[in-house]
Amino acid sequence: MKFTSLFAIATSLAAVSAKNILLTNDDGWAATNIRAFYRDLKAAGHNVVMVAPAVQMSGNGGKFQLAASNTLETDAEFGYPPAGSPSWGHEEDDLNVWYYNGTPAACVGVALDYILPTYFNNMTVDVVLGGPNEGTNLGERDFVLSGTIGAAYYATERGYSAIAFSGANSNNSFFKDTLDDDPNHSANIYSKKSVELLDALFEKQGNNERLFPLSTGLNVNYPKAGSDVGSDCLDPVFYHSRQTGPNYFVYSAKVNEETNLVEYISSYDNVLDVCSAGDCSLPAEFEIIKNCASSITVFSLDPDSKKKVTDDVIAKFDSILS
Ligand SMILES: *[C@@H]1O[C@H](CO)[C@@H](O)[C@H](O)[C@H]1NC(C)=O
Ligand SMILES: *[C@@H]1O[C@H](CO)[C@@H](O)[C@H](O)[C@H]1NC(C)=O
Ligand SMILES: *[C@@H]1O[C@H](CO)[C@@H](O)[C@H](O)[C@H]1NC(C)=O
Repeated sequence: MKFTSLFAIATSLAAVSAKNILLTNDDGWAATNIRAFYRDLKAAGHNVVMVAPAVQMSGNGGKFQLAASNTLETDAEFGYPPAGSPSWGHEEDDLNVWYYNGTPAACVGVALDYILPTYFNNMTVDVVLGGPNEGTNLGERDFVLSGTIGAAYYATERGYSAIAFSGANSNNSFFKDTLDDDPNHSANIYSKKSVELLDALFEKQGNNERLFPLSTGLNVNYPKAGSDVGSDCLDPVFYHSRQTGPNYFVYSAKVNEETNLVEYISSYDNVLDVCSAGDCSLPAEFEIIKNCASSITVFSLDPDSKKKVTDDVIAKFDSILS
């Protein structure tokens, strides 16, 4: 009798912290970073369904592009799976890991409107996560451009709490080649830090139904970290950041005199070095990740949202900031 009630308490405690998570990215379902994150989110006790693009979908922002045919016309990223395979499917040994031949935002839509209702008994979603992206997504330019962030703001538009994660290890690597358990390897560091941030957020969420207020989410960026990418940074700390600030990247156009074609160049700009939600002391994302540190920026899809809304989100992660 006593054992039974103790067991009941233990399982109900576990149930409080277990969340339903929808995971995607833009580098494709076979990328090492997302597979490490999936593994660690599951190990942390969460129910995770991953639905990510079949092919590399970087730079698509929030574009909602669906599969145009029932089969893949070209190989998926890393030939996993090969051309001719169905346009969507899951790992043979894991019903929770799916690819879909569409953009990241479309993967989220297909998950919410088809895969979860059909295969997961209408599972509710507590938070939608993107990444960790292979390569940073910093500043205004990447906010609108990144497919990983696009998935997060699409989910936010649908009323979900969402977070985009990106890291400076831009190596496009196949999980079957590079996924391992070495805690000093890049994908594992990003994954561990992301789970740490989520733990802090879920603890603050407590019994609240929502993780973040409607229309808000987070954009998180990690610095170059990990012995596999030649970095001494193994445990980057977190700082609250702003999307604007000095020395951010912007595209500009330049005519090539030889070809007479217009080419783009990436250059630094400073015009958006402005305060964020009234806070002029916040460091810029670009500045933070130059050190062994990670940036957490609050985004709101409502440009008129008041400072109070941002403050409510910041209160959810201030415990983890350095
Ligand atoms: C999912 O929800 C829809 C709409 O409420 C309902 O029609 C459908 O039967 C549900 N499916 C399952 C498997 O519960
Ligand atoms: C980078 O990706 C390639 C291709 O998947 C892989 O062979 C290589 O080991 C990766 N390097 C690192 C440092 O992860
Ligand atoms: C990871 O790096 C730390 C610090 O350099 C080192 O002490 C530890 O042994 C490394 N772990 C592994 C598994 O290599």
